[in-house]
Amino acid sequence: MRSLLAALLFLFSCPGRCMYLESDQNTSIPEGWINAGRVAASDQVQLTFALKQRNVRELRELLGRVSDPDSSQYGKHLSLEQLSFLVQPSELTQKVVRRWLESHGVHDCQSVETQDFLQCAMPARVAEKLLPGCEFSRYVNRHQSLVRSPVPYGLPDEMSEHLDFVGGVHRFPDSKVALRRTWANGKKQKAEFHLGVSPSILRQRYNLTASDVGSSQNNSQAVAQFLEQFFHPADLAEFMKLFGRGFKNLPEVERVVGKQGGGKAGLEASLDVEYIMSTGANIPTWVFTNPGRHESQEPFLQWLLLLSNMSAVPWVHTISYGDDEDSLSQAYMQRINVEFMKAGVRGVTLLFASGDSGAGCMKASKGGNTFRPSFPASSPYVTTVGGTSFKNPFQVTYEVTDYISGGGFSNVFEMPDYQVNAVNSYLKGMKALPPKTYFNTSGRAYPDVAALSDNYWVVTNRVPIPFVSGTSASTPVFGGILSLINDHRFLKGLQSLGFLNPRLYKLQESASTALFDVTEGCHLSCLDEQVQGQGFCAAPSWDPVTGWGTPNYPHLLTALGD
Ligand SMILES: *[C@@H]1O[C@H](CO)[C@@H](O)[C@H](O)[C@H]1NC(C)=O
Ligand SMILES: *[C@@H]1O[C@H](CO)[C@@H](O)[C@H](O)[C@H]1NC(C)=O
Ligand SMILES: *[C@@H]1O[C@H](CO)[C@@H](O)[C@H](O)[C@H]1NC(C)=O
Ligand SMILES: *[C@@H]1O[C@H](CO)[C@@H](O)[C@H](O)[C@H]1NC(C)=O
Ligand SMILES: *[C@@H]1O[C@H](CO)[C@@H](O)[C@H](O)[C@H]1NC(C)=O
Repeated sequence: MRSLLAALLFLFSCPGRCMYLESDQNTSIPEGWINAGRVAASDQVQLTFALKQRNVRELRELLGRVSDPDSSQYGKHLSLEQLSFLVQPSELTQKVVRRWLESHGVHDCQSVETQDFLQCAMPARVAEKLLPGCEFSRYVNRHQSLVRSPVPYGLPDEMSEHLDFVGGVHRFPDSKVALRRTWANGKKQKAEFHLGVSPSILRQRYNLTASDVGSSQNNSQAVAQFLEQFFHPADLAEFMKLFGRGFKNLPEVERVVGKQGGGKAGLEASLDVEYIMSTGANIPTWVFTNPGRHESQEPFLQWLLLLSNMSAVPWVHTISYGDDEDSLSQAYMQRINVEFMKAGVRGVTLLFASGDSGAGCMKASKGGNTFRPSFPASSPYVTTVGGTSFKNPFQVTYEVTDYISGGGFSNVFEMPDYQVNAVNSYLKGMKALPPKTYFNTSGRAYPDVAALSDNYWVVTNRVPIPFVSGTSASTPVFGGILSLINDHRFLKGLQSLGFLNPRLYKLQESASTALFDVTEGCHLSCLDEQVQGQGFCAAPSWDPVTGWGTPNYPHLLTALGD
């Protein structure tokens, strides 16, 4: 009904020929947001134009070579300047976009080093003329106010060959916090007796000794977060005082990029920082936090713009942002995927949480259900981290699947070459798989690796809180361990690990012991008659629940430290 109305409006408001770049973007307003009415015509909005890049195929091929340990180009990463030379939009594209904006009186624009984004401020009235169809309203929830359009935007036909999408129009910041308090979940009652996961438990389980801490001058790591959350330096200091005994650590972050509010600390924000700095101990750590906070910004996109505008960024980033693939436009996901390639070719490692809904669930178009993959977990150019719990919650013994661990097969991205053998072995080897109609075996399968995700201690607002769980806990833990390996590499004068997957899959296919294989347990999915709440199950070698498994640091270091 609404799309019909939108189409009519669109015909009316877009004389001449017009295009929708993101007609498949979900433009409904997520729960919890209240429409506070149309913005005034003179209210400023800020739009982010993603200009078409050059040489995307060359970028993909180059990333393959610099990430393949058997290539003579392995580790030959690009500087931001070199990357910019490769991908920046053609003169024509840059000129056409600028001229179009200027012809509407839009002059207040900022570009990035790679010239492939343009961020411009303008009155809402001008934005609505630029993008026929869209209608900006203000939406508020308890913490925040945003400007978005519930109606899809069009573009003059001649612009569509120069732009991938326009940001700041539709997407809301993620509402899915990949975190939960275990005690709230009836299924996990017995966990209440557990002493909980702390840095010393993690370091013991993953075989980190007291001397396994960073010492290279060149090393750095980061967490990025996009919620309206802050971390308090005092929480980190308190956390290290309580839990940081027995290994050298830093009680302060090195740098906060973006604006930290003064409000209450968020659980997620505290967790990420406290744990990346516990495994990646003594390594300078940055926090990227929702910067700028213009009402019409997309915080996740904002972080990617920052990466394209800073010549020196940390080597490892861990991120807990995720959305259902089916709610995002193809144009957006494909372009964001290129942004991940850009990071990889610079030697930056991106780790994403696999999500906390197992295989997920959605109604299929023909009725019935299918699993529901999550993005960016499903991107072939990031390393995705699933979750585990201890088999015996009283002891530091072996790990089994955490039933929430996100995993499955993308419906958007084809399966990359590096994982074809691993995934096919899993599919062939399993006696019982979910019904074929529930997942797409031609897609990128995830996660790649895992770590403990259950029953963490976190200090937030100065108070130690137990029972914090989710793959947003396992992700910084794995990230910190990769940073330790980078540290050894830097001390030897080698390059960073960069995009890890091609090397990781090769390593694991050679019967490596660098990761503990998690082989027990299944994750959750649709509560229907066909699958009855069960998604995929873990198995020997790679599986779409815990990937290749959890880190055994000394062996991982031997394998990747060169
Ligand atoms: C679109 O978003 C709304 C609000 O978040 C949600 O209820 C709905 O299920 C989504 N639809 C699809 C197809 O993802
Ligand atoms: C990128 O950096 C330049 C130079 O520091 C700055 O002028 C510009 O505003 C930045 N771009 C964005 C989109 O913030
Ligand atoms: C790592 O620790 C486990 C027990 O947690 C032990 O079985 C294993 O031998 C250790 N591996 C190494 C390489 O130290
Ligand atoms: C490490 O930092 C030093 C000093 O800043 C620099 O000379 C050197 O090239 C860096 N090494 C690597 C591997 O980046
Ligand atoms: C399955 O995944 C591929 C990408 O590998 C995609 O092209 C195709 O549309 C997907 N099929 C469905 C039914 O979503």
